[in-house]
This record gives sequence, structure tokens and C-alpha cells, in this order.
Amino acid sequence: MHFFRSVVGLVSILLSETLAAPSDLRSRDLNSFIAAERAIALQGALNNIGPNGSAVPGAGAGFVVASPSKVNPDYFFTWTRDSALTLKMLIDEFIFGNTALLPTIWGYVHAQAKLQTVSNPSGTFLPAGLGLAEPKYQVDGTRFNGAWGRPQRDGPALRAIALMTFSNWLIDNGQKSTAKTIIWPIISNDLSYVGQYWNQTGFDLWEETLGSSFFTVQNQHRSLVQGAQLAKDLGVTCTGCDQAPELLCFLQSFWNGEYIVSNININNGRTGLDGNSILGSISVFDIDAYCNSPTIQPCNSQALANFKVLMDTFRTTYTINNGIPEGQGIAVGRYGEDVYQGGNPWYLITNAAAEFLYDAVAQWKARHNLIVDETSLAFFKDLYPTVTVRQYNSGNANSPFAQIMNAVTAYADSFVAVAEKYIPADGHLAEQFNRDTGVLLSAVDLTWSYAAFVTMSQRRAGQYPASWGTRNATAPPATCAATSTQGINVVFNVNASTYFGENIYVIGNTDDLGAWDIANSLPLGAGGYTSERPLWSASAYLNAGESVSYKYVRQENCDQPYIYETLNRTLTVPACGSASITEEDAWVGPVGTSGNC
Ligand SMILES: *[C@@H]1O[C@H](CO)[C@@H](O)[C@H](O)[C@H]1NC(C)=O
Ligand SMILES: *[C@@H]1O[C@H](CO)[C@@H](O)[C@H](O)[C@H]1NC(C)=O
Ligand SMILES: *[C@@H]1O[C@H](CO)[C@@H](O)[C@H](O)[C@H]1NC(C)=O
Ligand SMILES: *[C@@H]1O[C@H](CO)[C@@H](O)[C@H](O)[C@H]1NC(C)=O
Ligand SMILES: *[C@@H]1O[C@H](CO)[C@@H](O)[C@H](O)[C@H]1NC(C)=O
Repeated sequence: MHFFRSVVGLVSILLSETLAAPSDLRSRDLNSFIAAERAIALQGALNNIGPNGSAVPGAGAGFVVASPSKVNPDYFFTWTRDSALTLKMLIDEFIFGNTALLPTIWGYVHAQAKLQTVSNPSGTFLPAGLGLAEPKYQVDGTRFNGAWGRPQRDGPALRAIALMTFSNWLIDNGQKSTAKTIIWPIISNDLSYVGQYWNQTGFDLWEETLGSSFFTVQNQHRSLVQGAQLAKDLGVTCTGCDQAPELLCFLQSFWNGEYIVSNININNGRTGLDGNSILGSISVFDIDAYCNSPTIQPCNSQALANFKVLMDTFRTTYTINNGIPEGQGIAVGRYGEDVYQGGNPWYLITNAAAEFLYDAVAQWKARHNLIVDETSLAFFKDLYPTVTVRQYNSGNANSPFAQIMNAVTAYADSFVAVAEKYIPADGHLAEQFNRDTGVLLSAVDLTWSYAAFVTMSQRRAGQYPASWGTRNATAPPATCAATSTQGINVVFNVNASTYFGENIYVIGNTDDLGAWDIANSLPLGAGGYTSERPLWSASAYLNAGESVSYKYVRQENCDQPYIYETLNRTLTVPACGSASITEEDAWVGPVGTSGNC
């Protein structure tokens, strides 16, 4: 019935007399399955991206459709979260060597620049960015007006993370100015949003709960740490990134002494045990991180303790998990109280459980040690009964360290084997599989299910994204505070007709505007540029009450000199506590022409 397995099974039978360890046979089997399914999953995700995705005719260029399913459920929309997670996977695949993905990545960049400016039920883009947290749009990038759980504040952070990963590749490959002028303005909008609104509640990744979500806060923190470094590398100012230590402080409050309560600042009668926590830790995975990093990596003791408690819940929740002992992979869903579509295990969370464990093993191996403490002891006991509270240093293949690594890796593989068992012969994934029968159900060809299979496969194959700077992250303050980006949000809008390849900056006498140094001026975005209105815009947080002198500058192509406006403009930033202000300007001075190089 599973075509990959039937071929592999034959090989296994032929080899079974020469290979001693049965585990070798099993892992061989799993390897072949993963290789075949990874290719199907990558293609499955691409099939759902416009304009060329074969499963989503009608989707606009660069838009990731959640699923081709149009009824029960209707997922024929583009979600900011699902799209960003999918693109993060594709960008990593690209960096790992799949160069054919570049046009798809650029399609996403251009689509998101536009999408940020689309007014929607969460709000508008200007002046305060409220529209950025809209969870979903029509597949052509127009607004969706139906009732929904909004706002969802993980979207801007996840999009920024995907775009920053791509920006780092551009910088490493001699395209720093492209990263600065085309991509940074999009990222900057999202980071400003995070800095301003992180301390307000929003809907979680399952779109049901209005509170503070572990997954959201972890990704928001990561986005600001990564943003501060990228801003430094590009010579620009990151508005909002100064909030990172406060987010890290807040992140510590999700731990209740036994497990991670995935949603706080809410009273919904649930335990808070939720796959949210697994997805959070894998999305901030950093191969260079220390296991005691407050970013709560997969190898962190709290994350491991939480993993065990969460898995033990699901062990008794679904019929298909009946009789599977502790320390063996199971089918994993969102949370125990789930009733959506009957409340079933999900492919993407079952594979995320495996990815989490592969991540943890990679981190211990990279650090060459493992520290078992009282918090994580129960997790290890299920896998290596003689474990004690102590430090295990790496050693030879028979060392306790190596044995524990093998046991955790086998545990990870056993989750993939469960997924394999419930993936149909053609390799297609849906959103869920039935808790009693294992038959797939809900949205077919869910893009996120495919993306999750690929990221799990990457980690299992030893493919790790570059560090995002966990070691550089500022430690949280001793006492947490409810804060938000300081300053007054000033929006710079200028009408300036430009040729393709020409860019606009705003420069001025304050540090935020580059102190008249063109290398540190603020790039404007052209996401709102239309044939009716040649709009370039950016927003910046300026010090309340200060007087600013500024002007716009054109950056020409073909190494032609910059063109400055011929006047100095002035603006007085209002006092503290004022709402944001918008400068509406029109270009004054000579214009440029393409050098046609
Ligand atoms: C879509 O297909 C067209 C025509 O083959 C091609 O030029 C374009 O690059 C493709 N777009 C993406 C994002 O792959
Ligand atoms: C805001 O931050 C404070 C300090 O970390 C925290 O106690 C509070 O729960 C946060 N509220 C929200 C909605 O994020
Ligand atoms: C950490 O900070 C150092 C010093 O600023 C910098 O060179 C390095 O690139 C940073 N690492 C990451 C991953 O951002
Ligand atoms: C006017 O702008 C130029 C940069 O074009 C700057 O060097 C100069 O200091 C500005 N003058 C005032 C009075 O702000
Ligand atoms: C910018 O262009 C729009 C559309 O043409 C126009 O309504 C607006 O008045 C212009 N702004 C300025 C400051 O000229």
C-alpha cells in the first residue's frame, strides 16, 4: 500500500541476512521514505504558490495559498503566518543549494511589499501599521472581510524572519544594496510593528484564543534580535529592536514549573499544554545556541520537560496511540481539548515533534555535552533509564553521551515513522488524520504540512540554518516591564515618479535619519506605488518634541551620483503621548534618468 515501503521492504528482505542490527534495517527503510516524501512535500508546497502553482489557479504572483481546498474547510486564502513559514523553508532550501527557488522567493518579496499596504479589517498600513497583523487575505492579495480571529501578531515577526534570512544571503553574495533598498523597508515595517504592539494580546497560531502566545512571543523576540544585527550590517536604524530584552523577559513567564503554558493572559479553561510550544522552539532553533539560553531552544530543560508532559497527554488522547509506551513516537495534535474537525492529530505537529528532537540532538552534539537536571530528568528517563542528574560529555560510540544521543534520535525517528504510517501511498498530506482510524482528513494538500515535512527532513539530514544570534541577545532585565517602542511614529510619504531601479531615501539631521550621512539614511518602500500615485513611504520613531531638518534623496542606477532635493524641509515632532503624524510631501528638485547600463 505504501509504494516507497514496498520497494524498500524488498531490499530489506534481501539484506536481512547480512545485516545484524534490526535498527539498521528500520532506519534504512525510514531514510528511503523520507527522501521520497521530502521531494513530494517540496513540490506540494510549490504547487500552492501563485502564479504558477498547479494546484492554485487564480492565485496572484508570490502568494502562498494555505490549501487548494475550497469547501469544508475553505482554506483558499493566503495567510501571513503560513506563507512566512513556507518561505522560510524555501529560503533555507535555496541557501542549502536549490537555486531554482530564487524566482519564487522574489515573487514573495514583491507580493509582501504590496500586501503590507492593503487596508483590511485589522486596520490600515499608515499611519500606525495596524493592518500588518491581519491574518489572511484573498489569494490575489485583496482584503478578506469576513469575521475572523484578528489581529494575529506573529505574522509580522515571521515575515521579517523569512525576509531577513534572505537578506543575509544577499549580503553574503555581494547584493547588500538590494537588501537595503528593496527588502529592508518591508522588514522595517514589520519590526516597528513588533516593537510597538508586542505587549498587547492577539489571536494565537490556531486563531481561537485571544491572549499572549508562546509561539508568537518567541518569534517576536527572535525577529528583533535578528533585526538589530541586520540593521547594523546595512547601516540603518531598527525601530522597535530595542524591545528585545523585554520580550525575552516576558517569555520566561510561560513556564509554570512543570510545563510551558502556551497561552497566557487568558482564562479559557484549558491546561495550556499545546503543540504551540513545540512549534515555537523549532522556529527559533539556533544551532549555535546554549541550552540554557532564555530563548528556550529545543535542548532547553524546560522545553524537554514540556515535551514529555505534552506527549504523555496525547498518548492517552487518541485511539491510534493506544498502547504506545512512553519514549515511543505517537500521533500529535494541537491540544488535548481540541474539537476542530473532531480534534485529531496533525501531520505538521507530528513531524514538528521529530524536528524538535533532531534539533536538540544537534545542539548537544555541537556543544559536545549534555546537562541533565531535575527539570529534564523525566524526559531522559523514558529513553535511557539509567540516566542521572549530571553533565554528560561527548565520548566514544559507547559512551553514555553517545547512547543518549542515539536514544533521542531513535525517539525522533519514531515520530516520523508514525507520520509515515498515516501518509497515503501517493505521499499527499492533508491537515489532519483521524484520531481513531488514521485516515487523512480536513484540508487537502495543506502547504504548512508540506513545509513542516521539509524542515524536519532538513534537520534530520544535518542541514541547519545559520545562527540568528542567540548568543548576542541581550539578557532579560531582572524585572519585566510593560513597554512599547518609545518615540513618536512619523510617516514620510513622498510622491516621486521613479524609473525601475531608482530608489528613494529620507535623510536628515537626527541619528534616526542618518545625520546627513547618505550611508545611514532611511530607505523608503514602494509597496504603495501605483500608476495613479507614485508613493514612496517609510515610518520612523523620532524623539518627542525635537525639531528635525530633512529631505529626500534619489539613488540612481549605474553608479550615477545621488540626487538631493533642492530644499531643506523641517518638521517638529509632537510631544510625548501624541499619536503618530504623517508628512505628505512631493519631490522638489531635479529627477533622474536610467543610465541603461
Ligand atoms: C512563472 O512562470 C513564468 C513563465 O514560465 C516564469 O517566467 C516565471 O519566472 C514563473 N514565476 C515564478 C515565481 O516561478
Ligand atoms: C506586558 O508585559 C508585562 C511585563 O512582561 C506582562 O506582565 C504582561 O502580561 C504583558 N501583557 C501582554 C498582553 O503582553
Ligand atoms: C554577534 O555579534 C558579533 C559582534 O557584533 C557579530 O560579528 C556577529 O555577526 C553576531 N552574530 C550573529 C549570528 O548575528
Ligand atoms: C540642508 O541640507 C544639507 C544636505 O543636503 C545639509 O548638509 C545642511 O546642513 C542642511 N542645512 C540645514 C540648515 O539643515
Ligand atoms: C500625492 O499624489 C496624490 C495622488 O496624485 C495627491 O492626491 C496628493 O495630493 C499628492 N501629495 C502631494 C503632497 O502633492
